[in-house]
Amino acid sequence: MGPQARRAVCPGSFDPVTHGHLDIIERATSLFDEVVVAVGVNQSKHRLFSDDERIAMLRRAVEHLPQVSVEGFSGLLTTFCTEHDISAIVKGLRAVSDFDYELQMAQMNSSLSPVETVFVPTSPEWSFLASSLVKEVASYGGDVSGLVPDFVNEALVARLRDASG
Ligand code: PNS
Repeated sequence: MGPQARRAVCPGSFDPVTHGHLDIIERATSLFDEVVVAVGVNQSKHRLFSDDERIAMLRRAVEHLPQVSVEGFSGLLTTFCTEHDISAIVKGLRAVSDFDYELQMAQMNSSLSPVETVFVPTSPEWSFLASSLVKEVASYGGDVSGLVPDFVNEALVARLRDASG
């Protein structure tokens, strides 16, 4: 890509990646030349899937999208953007309840660096989706196969079976 290439980041924990995330990532590719999915690692939060597992799941889920790459990141998102020549942060908004915190983060991030935040409305079919709910439903034996890629569903079922056994 030449110097004009516009590069955006889709950041998140992705524990695990859902069709809601993938919808936003795919739509970001129609707005930007290149999209970097930044998977938060080394954060103190408890995760069901390890850093390496979440990165590997993202790589597999976006392998059909040539403009998309996947990297782990720790520290400030704005530092990651500067280091990777990224001019925009793309975030999905599911509902107005997402907006308060996302606006606060967008304004904080733009106070730290020239990066812009672009909000993309989540497609209605995924507006109720959250990784935390997917994990909760799956942990009680609920069927989440329509909400995540097939290989993620298989990994979830296996992980939760191991955890309970
Ligand atoms: O999927 P999540 O957990 O909602 O993702 C949140 C994430 C990783 C995008 C956000 O916590 C983040 O940007 N963390 C990096 C640390 C940082 O830059 N904090 C200041 C934000 S204003």
